[in-house]
Amino acid sequence: MFENYNMNELNVSSTAYINWLEQIIDSINDGILVIDSKGIVRVINDEYTNITGVKKGTIIGKKLVDVRKGAILPSVLNDGKKRTGIYRQEGNSRYVVDMAPIDSGERMIGAVSVLKSVTEVGKLTKELAKSREALGKLENTVGDIYKTRYTFDDIIGKNAGLEKTVAIAKKASHSNLNILICGESGTGKELFAHAIHYEGKRSGYPFVPVNCAAIPSSLLEAELFGYEEGTFTNSKKGGKIGLFELANNGTLFLDEIGDMPVDLQPKLLRVLQDGRIRKVGGLREQEINIQVIAATNKDLENMTRKQRFRADLYYRINGIQVVIPPLRDRKDDIHVLIDHLLHHTHELKEMNVTNDAISALIQYDWPGNTREFFNVFQYAMNMTDNATIEMDHFPEFLTRKTSLPNTYQEKSLKEVLKRTEQEIIQQTLKTYGYTLEGKKKAAKKLGISLATLYNKLSE
Ligand SMILES: Nc1ncnc2c1ncn2[C@@H]1O[C@H](COP(=O)(O)OP(=O)(O)OP(=O)(O)O)[C@@H](O)[C@H]1O
Ligand SMILES: [Mg+2]
Repeated sequence: MFENYNMNELNVSSTAYINWLEQIIDSINDGILVIDSKGIVRVINDEYTNITGVKKGTIIGKKLVDVRKGAILPSVLNDGKKRTGIYRQEGNSRYVVDMAPIDSGERMIGAVSVLKSVTEVGKLTKELAKSREALGKLENTVGDIYKTRYTFDDIIGKNAGLEKTVAIAKKASHSNLNILICGESGTGKELFAHAIHYEGKRSGYPFVPVNCAAIPSSLLEAELFGYEEGTFTNSKKGGKIGLFELANNGTLFLDEIGDMPVDLQPKLLRVLQDGRIRKVGGLREQEINIQVIAATNKDLENMTRKQRFRADLYYRINGIQVVIPPLRDRKDDIHVLIDHLLHHTHELKEMNVTNDAISALIQYDWPGNTREFFNVFQYAMNMTDNATIEMDHFPEFLTRKTSLPNTYQEKSLKEVLKRTEQEIIQQTLKTYGYTLEGKKKAAKKLGISLATLYNKLSE
């Protein structure tokens, strides 16, 4: 990589020149690692070895990602952006890394990492305590998400409408516009949000999900913006980092945005417009760079008409709209989903499905969409004793032809209403599952509180 320099000016041989440069680099107090445009390690200095324990012989000439799992430097080659202050720990060694592209003026010819050992940088200790707190919080908040990274390959379906949606979502992932994902419950909004994030240029940064419906509105502002120490009676020492800040350079996924409290909406709008946040109780403004992916199963446009959602915020988040069709509008995918479940999730035995059972699956309306389909089909796979799935293996609600007047003949209206209510509750619970989380979602879907749901279940 030193060949680009003009050797003649120095009037030394190229070997001597390289030796000279190597001595200079080795005398620098910071660890240095340089990769070329192909991601191959070309240079490391002695301090790099001191800090990381990695010796020249084991890394020079090798692809960095092969020898240093999780290395971020190659992503600098991809996006040409600097990274600063990345905190790392290896065994007892703690250090902070700055990374930058090396640009020849015409093209990217490599990238460099500069490592500062924390022990050597006493004055940074205070800053680092903060960073570590941020990292701890980051790990907690985003740790689960890093475990499950969905990509576009995880989206099952060949229906033309769904494929169109996927094509728009892929384009959206390469843009800087905010994205609004619309779709009924269980259509895969969260799956799409993941896929968009991991496809795009922000994939090396956090994906921070926030469920606007699950966090009480009184806490949501502090969660999003963070707060300064001493703002609240019980506030944490050192204050709290907000989710906007955690998502910096990455993606903030605002799930169930339709439930965002109206008084918080202008504050969110301001962040999206100005790219700046200020902690609750704080004075200092801080720049942030995030892409927002919002998701909703509500008709936000209609809500803006009823003044339940701010129109200006709606236009801001609706940079690109990704509309996921419900399963009942893409019944050609039922075969694809069956095929997936039979062949990719059940390795133990070969299974098949009778034609009657397939027709029942096609006829059903699937109010809980793909999520409900997975639940129902996996239930049937567990119900069959042999390798054939039949109608009988499905939950009763799927195959029952309901005809209310006949079913409830000669019953009082009160009884009919009660039975219908119970059936709807059971059906909703089958869609969402009987876990606490499932019950919460079911209660929300039914427009009743969790306590009311429990009351009705015990009736
Ligand atoms: N097209 C699909 N391919 C594969 N899996 C899917 C698809 N759509 C949904 N799923 C699966 O269904 C489940 C529900 O998906 P997800 O949580 O993304 O839905 P959602 O639209 O966010 O639902 P809700 O509105 O209830 O939050 C997940 O397990 C997801 O992996
Ligand atoms: Mg969701």
